[in-house]
Amino acid sequence: MATSSKLRSPVLPRRRLAEPFLLLLLLLLLAAVARPTAAADVVELTLLAGAQEKGAVCLDGSPPGYHLQRGFGSGEHSWLVFLEGGAWCNSIESCSRRKMGVYGSSKFMKAAEFNGILSNDQQLNSDFYNWNKVAIRYCDGASFSGDAEAQDKDGSTLHFRGLRIWEAVVDELMGKGLATAKQAILSGCSAGGLAALLHCNDFHARFPKEVSAKCLPDAGFFLDVEDLSGERHMWSVFNGTVHLQNVREVLSKDCLTKKDPTECFFPAELVKSITAPTLILNSAYDSWQIRNALAPDGSFPGQSWSSCKTDIRNCSSTQIQVFNGFRNKFVDDVEIVKDKKDWGLFIDSCFTHCQTPFNISWSSQASPVLGSKTVAEAVGDWYFERSYEVKEIDCEYPCNPTCSSQLPT
Ligand SMILES: *[C@@H]1O[C@H](CO)[C@@H](O)[C@H](O)[C@H]1NC(C)=O
Ligand SMILES: *[C@@H]1O[C@H](CO)[C@@H](O)[C@H](O)[C@H]1NC(C)=O
Ligand SMILES: *[C@@H]1O[C@H](CO)[C@@H](O)[C@H](O)[C@H]1NC(C)=O
Repeated sequence: MATSSKLRSPVLPRRRLAEPFLLLLLLLLLAAVARPTAAADVVELTLLAGAQEKGAVCLDGSPPGYHLQRGFGSGEHSWLVFLEGGAWCNSIESCSRRKMGVYGSSKFMKAAEFNGILSNDQQLNSDFYNWNKVAIRYCDGASFSGDAEAQDKDGSTLHFRGLRIWEAVVDELMGKGLATAKQAILSGCSAGGLAALLHCNDFHARFPKEVSAKCLPDAGFFLDVEDLSGERHMWSVFNGTVHLQNVREVLSKDCLTKKDPTECFFPAELVKSITAPTLILNSAYDSWQIRNALAPDGSFPGQSWSSCKTDIRNCSSTQIQVFNGFRNKFVDDVEIVKDKKDWGLFIDSCFTHCQTPFNISWSSQASPVLGSKTVAEAVGDWYFERSYEVKEIDCEYPCNPTCSSQLPT
């Protein structure tokens, strides 16, 4: 069309563009080769063997995947299993969209960078750097817990096989050395943190008594709170997921006799039946929950909460009071943990979400400090029992001066 070509901005002749471009490429290549020690910790993707026969597949039917980095030295018989997060899908429509991407199909998965608790850098991760580390990719949409299938709008099958993925991947890892672990941690962040709670007992039960197997759910403690409009928004999200994907097997039998399965999917119920030592790591002002559970779009008029949701420094004192209400519920819900021997709490007041898989939150000058410990120090002290107890609950925002605005939100 004549009009559109007229509107196009003038373009440099090709030959003149190519030279600076090639020079830049050469410089980038040189930079990459010249600094091998600064190379990021990239770990290749392994697809689960025999996934289809076991029915352990992603939403689209593709095999699930994980990244395994072998331990070395004194870490040879120590294992960290980390479950990836990425919210949930709770309807045919949302699961159908999800299967077109990395959270629903291994067709889109690539190698992963290991940071924070997954890093093999001794300075950054002094307690776990030489452990065997596995990150299991999330591609089922129900925190590795559903077991069902449904028909997609186009007639194809939507596979809800999170539970089988969990079982088949851990079985495969057992054969790769996890079975002879002397020390083991099940962790994960966000929906993966919830999954770590859901599978904590199963993980623990796979090892002999003398093995130190513990759980570290990070940012997985989702609250059943009313949103700004008074709806139980998070409850509705979970209700859709639990019913659509048939989440049942992983829930506590005791809870199911008394309550609705959706209620039994919430951490406040899950912790009652967990028997393995567990450290709950979470911000009481979890930025994901504040944005998506407490103040989801549509729960408030106009733009009244938009800038406060994006950056907590922009909230009014009235808005902070609402967040404090969320924090108080958080403190109430984790109260039960205080009396549990060998358990831990690290509940800070920084506006962030997931604190183990990022260098900056895990162990840096900007890591949240609670009880004079960074996240990495607190987790290490709890796991190795270097302190009598690690049970810390932060004061109300903005009292903790170590909460950095550089933390991921
Ligand atoms: C995290 O720290 C490691 C080790 O120092 C470094 O190689 C990696 O690039 C860092 N990752 C990010 C995202 O900064
Ligand atoms: C929970 O989900 C089920 C299945 O989709 C639905 O029938 C039920 O009405 C939902 N409950 C509420 C209170 O929304
Ligand atoms: C926060 O407030 C500052 C100053 O009023 C403003 O410049 C900034 O854009 C706000 N941030 C957001 C995310 O709205």
